[in-house]
Amino acid sequence: MKPTHIISAITISTLAASVSARAVFNVNYEDDSVSSGYPTTGPNRVLVPGIEPGLATAKDAVYMVAGGAHNTAFAVVLDDPTYVGGGFPRSEFGYAGFPGATYKDCEHGEYSFSMLLKDLVPSVKGTRDAPAEDVVWQFKHHGGGHDLHLALVGTNLVLGWGGNVYKQVIIDNVMPYVNKWMDFRFDVLWRSNNTGRFTLDMRLPGERKFGHTVAKKDLQTYVTASPDGTPWTGTGSIQYGVYRHSANSTAGDTKTLIVYHDEITAINFNAMADHSN
Ligand SMILES: *[C@@H]1O[C@H](CO)[C@@H](O)[C@H](O)[C@H]1NC(C)=O
Ligand SMILES: *[C@@H]1O[C@H](CO)[C@@H](O)[C@H](O)[C@H]1NC(C)=O
Repeated sequence: MKPTHIISAITISTLAASVSARAVFNVNYEDDSVSSGYPTTGPNRVLVPGIEPGLATAKDAVYMVAGGAHNTAFAVVLDDPTYVGGGFPRSEFGYAGFPGATYKDCEHGEYSFSMLLKDLVPSVKGTRDAPAEDVVWQFKHHGGGHDLHLALVGTNLVLGWGGNVYKQVIIDNVMPYVNKWMDFRFDVLWRSNNTGRFTLDMRLPGERKFGHTVAKKDLQTYVTASPDGTPWTGTGSIQYGVYRHSANSTAGDTKTLIVYHDEITAINFNAMADHSN
C-alpha cells in the first residue's frame, strides 16, 4: 500500500460509478502476501513466480519489501536459470481469469499502477545500437506478444504499441527517479480495426498531478498478428514485473534488474464483476 496513491484510486471509482457493467481488479499487497490474497491455484488464480509451475524459482524473484509498505519486488538476475520463466529471464505477476484484469476486442479498460526502479544500474549499449529492452509492464496478448507495453531501455522509459511496432520515449532519463515511486494510468479502447485509442498519463516524483500525456487514436490497439503475419490467437491481460527477453550481460545489459510494483487497479467496463473483489 502506497498512501500517496489514494487520490487517483478515488478518481477512478468515481468515473466508474456511472457505468453499469464493469469488473474491477485490484492488487495492493496489503495482506503482505505475494499473491495479494488471491488464489494461486485453480482457473481463477494469479500466476506468481515461485508458486506457478514453469516460472522463475529463485527465492528473490518475487518478494515483499520489508518495512511495512507492502510493495512487491520483481527481480531478474541474468545468466542464472532460476530467474527464467517460460524460456526467458523473467519474473512477472500474471492473471488467468479475472474479468477486470483481462480484455478482448471491442472492450474498454482503465488501468493504474505505481512502479519504482530499485537501485537501477542502467544497461549500456556497448557495441550495439541500443541496450536490450526490459519490459516492466505489459498488456499481454496471449498466444502473441504485447498489445501495449512499457520498457526500460538503458536510461529511457519507452512506450510501445501496435504489437511492438511503434515506440516512443516517455522518460528520457529515469535516473533522477530511481528509488522513487512513479504513477501511471492507461485508458484503452481495445479495437482490432483502426478505431482504437489509448491515453497514457504519468505522475513523476515530486509532481502533484498526472500529465505527460500521450494520446493516440484511430489505430489498432488490439493486435491480431505479428508484422510477419503470425496470428495472435488468445485474448489479453495485464502482466507486470520484469521481462528481459533479449538481455545479454556480456553485451552490456545490467545483470540485476529489480522493479517494485504496487497499487494496481484494472477496470474492464464491458465485463461483469470479478468474484474475488
Ligand atoms: C471497428 O470495430 C468495431 C467493433 O467490432 C465496430 O463496431 C466498428 O464498426 C468497426 N469499424 C470499422 C470502421 O470497421
Ligand atoms: C551476447 O553478447 C556477446 C558480446 O557482444 C555476443 O558475443 C553474444 O553472441 C551475445 N549472445 C547472444 C545470445 O546474443
